[in-house]
Amino acid sequence: MSSTTIPTTQKALLLPSKGGALSIEPFPVPTLGSGEVLVRLAAAALNPIDVAMQMFGLFIEVFPAVIGCDGAGEIVAIGEGVEGFSAGDRVAVQGTIDMMKKEIHGTYAQYVATPAKFLIKLPDSVSFDAGATMPCTLPTAALVLYNKDENVTGPRLDAPWTPGGRGKYAGKAAVVLGGSSSVGQYAIQFARLSGFSPIVATASPAHAAHLTALGATHVLDRALPAADLEAAARALAPAAGFALAFDAVSLPETLPLGYALAADGADLVVVSPPGTLGEGERKTVKVHMARGLLAIPTNAAVVEELLGALPGMLAAGDVKPNPVEVLEGGLAGVPGGLERVKMKQVSGVKLVVHPQATA
Ligand SMILES: NC(=O)c1ccc[n+]([C@@H]2O[C@H](COP(=O)([O-])OP(=O)(O)OC[C@H]3O[C@@H](n4cnc5c(N)ncnc54)[C@H](OP(=O)(O)O)[C@@H]3O)[C@@H](O)[C@H]2O)c1
Repeated sequence: MSSTTIPTTQKALLLPSKGGALSIEPFPVPTLGSGEVLVRLAAAALNPIDVAMQMFGLFIEVFPAVIGCDGAGEIVAIGEGVEGFSAGDRVAVQGTIDMMKKEIHGTYAQYVATPAKFLIKLPDSVSFDAGATMPCTLPTAALVLYNKDENVTGPRLDAPWTPGGRGKYAGKAAVVLGGSSSVGQYAIQFARLSGFSPIVATASPAHAAHLTALGATHVLDRALPAADLEAAARALAPAAGFALAFDAVSLPETLPLGYALAADGADLVVVSPPGTLGEGERKTVKVHMARGLLAIPTNAAVVEELLGALPGMLAAGDVKPNPVEVLEGGLAGVPGGLERVKMKQVSGVKLVVHPQATA
């Protein structure tokens, strides 16, 4: 392992047990395994899944745990066998969940060790704060659309980074429910890159201009009664209806709407297990579960493609990270931020903390 000056101990936000209180404690800086790099985290972003991990220990049996799924910073050490990355590279990182060991190596810390093959290289134009908005939710939006692994279902679209993929689905309509969510903002952008038009999004009206800039052709007020929302969306669709419905929030109130709006034979993407989708379920709507974890074996091929293409797409401005709200106090800002996530008081932005600013 080659390295610059790295402390042996860092400050990390530890979860002591399922449902326990998060607290900042000294914690060893991880040593590197083969194929891993050490990243000094400048930014970490908050996600709804963190709440489930903290409250119910979702996916975790090993405690104390450093949770956190999103981070960005600078590589400070390179492990054995790593190629294509150097100390000083600016990267975004997804926290690693080991589903076998039920263990997480998360980003609510000052340093994280992570497999190099899952890094997003950040162009200079993308700040660490902006970079930290991507690792969890951007792949959740993109992988399901373009994954062609034979063991998963999905729309199996030709990706916009492949020859002929960009704009390929021109003339087909998409609807993105929860367009202002972090996942939704990325779903709108990939729908745009794939050529879908119109792209109808639901969100609070305050986000209409931003979502239009990302590629939505119409933004409907998500507070409208369900029947009115459905009628308004249908009125914007071509005769063939919506070929793609992407439910980026997959809530009890949105799931039946996505199902109703998807045309016969169309694809409906959900981000949480959908349960019952509504009266008179039509078997012809193909329902697909988005899976944003980079380490899932069935994501391997499309992850490699996406992470290879993304730096260029970011540099060109083809994909824009989410707007951020930075919380004060370094890692001490996380518990209050997660309370806001839990209470659904986050709207159109990603909450971000600066781990190095932890007192
Ligand atoms: N399957 C996976 O691998 C995976 C990975 C990541 C995330 N997820 C899941 O994806 C979902 C979204 O995550 P996120 O981080 O993108 O969430 P988020 O940004 O925290 O979501 C907040 C947004 O939800 C919108 N919203 C709330 N209720 C809505 C409704 N009824 N209709 C339309 N929009 C509504 C709000 O819109 P307004 O402010 O405009 O009102 C707000 O902007 C979560 O359930 C998360 O657990 C799944």
